[in-house]
Amino acid sequence: MIATVRPAKKLEGSITVPGDKSISHRALMFGAIASGQSRVRGLSIGADVQSTASCMRALGVEIEDSRIEGRGMQGLRAASGPLDCGNSGTTMRLLAGLLAAQGFESDLAGDESLSRRPMGRVVDPLREMGATASWPPLRVGGKTPLHGIEYQAPIPSAQVKSAILLAGLYADGKTEVVETVRTRDHTELMLGAMGAAISVDGLRVIVERTEQLQPVDISVPGDFSSAAFWLAAAGLVAKSGVRLLGVGVNPTRTALADTLASVGFRIKRSHPRFEAGEPVADLEVSSVDLARPIVLDGHMAAEMLDELPVLAVVATQLAGKSVISGAAELRVKESDRLAAMEQGLTAMGADIVADQDGWIINGPRYLEGARVDSFGDHRVAMALAIAALIADGNTEIQGAECVEISYPGFFDHLEYLC
Ligand code: S3P
Repeated sequence: MIATVRPAKKLEGSITVPGDKSISHRALMFGAIASGQSRVRGLSIGADVQSTASCMRALGVEIEDSRIEGRGMQGLRAASGPLDCGNSGTTMRLLAGLLAAQGFESDLAGDESLSRRPMGRVVDPLREMGATASWPPLRVGGKTPLHGIEYQAPIPSAQVKSAILLAGLYADGKTEVVETVRTRDHTELMLGAMGAAISVDGLRVIVERTEQLQPVDISVPGDFSSAAFWLAAAGLVAKSGVRLLGVGVNPTRTALADTLASVGFRIKRSHPRFEAGEPVADLEVSSVDLARPIVLDGHMAAEMLDELPVLAVVATQLAGKSVISGAAELRVKESDRLAAMEQGLTAMGADIVADQDGWIINGPRYLEGARVDSFGDHRVAMALAIAALIADGNTEIQGAECVEISYPGFFDHLEYLC
């Protein structure tokens, strides 16, 4: 599908973005091994979370509307064929950890993009724990029991951390993951709330063998990574005012808001509350006069990896040279996001060069409508749509249907706000 996006005069209104993708995946998987019925309202409606739901069903779990019938820690049963993780790295990597600890073998498959993504990062530590695990293609499980390890994570990745912690629930002794940067901690929060033997000590997460998990009851907050597109758009388009209701503001997710604030954005929070240990608030953002450029080093980039494509769009409008580095992981996301954003924004007239681990962006530059490619990557498609709102003339985004991965209704919200 080609989406045609017109320049916006202003953005105005209140919206509720879809449920947080990371929390939704975890609620489905952890609910599946809990003892009893979990209630999860506001699950992400995106295709990635549908992939997790169908894998869990294939493993014998009953999921109906907001109900998940937990089968207990030992209750999953072997699927009759390969588990299809679609486009979802989170599904494949977290399931690899959970299934590596089961007494049966599982094959995990995905679409073309997912099949290209690195899985050695989960296979290696799982093997260290005594699991049978191989890749490619990804096959795990069948040999138990596992034993705990101390794992010094070489790359910051919540998916890898979560895979090891899930295997650790079944392993003898302590399993410890030590990070260099605190990645999103939804796994720690949710497993803790469900009664797992899990604790956090600075950058170290420790889990012990857990015999039983209590069911989870949660209204999933809105996805900050989806809200990020509107935070950027409302700041960039003159005379705008947008309210985003019920957004998850877990501090391991909101580094983009701090970076935007540092270049002049004013993002107001109201109605702060908690949902199953996860902080939630309404966010309000209006247009701003932008000043200085952005300089992001390694750790900072790692804290807002999913938001970097839209941050690159913001940087095209900042005076001076923005330098975003430490983001080599963007090369192995759903697409090579460094290359995809360089190509799309260059076609629109931006001065952006991708290097090994980031971009150098000189601004401000007027953007012009152009025909651009999403490369089948939802975050690239949405970031380019935000660029289109501040461009002269129409922009055509090829492969725009991929927004369904995390944000079905993105283009409806865009119509509504403009
Ligand atoms: C996620 C972790 C991040 C993020 C992805 C979701 C998760 O991936 O980019 O969108 O839910 O754990 P990495 O673990 O590869 O950094």
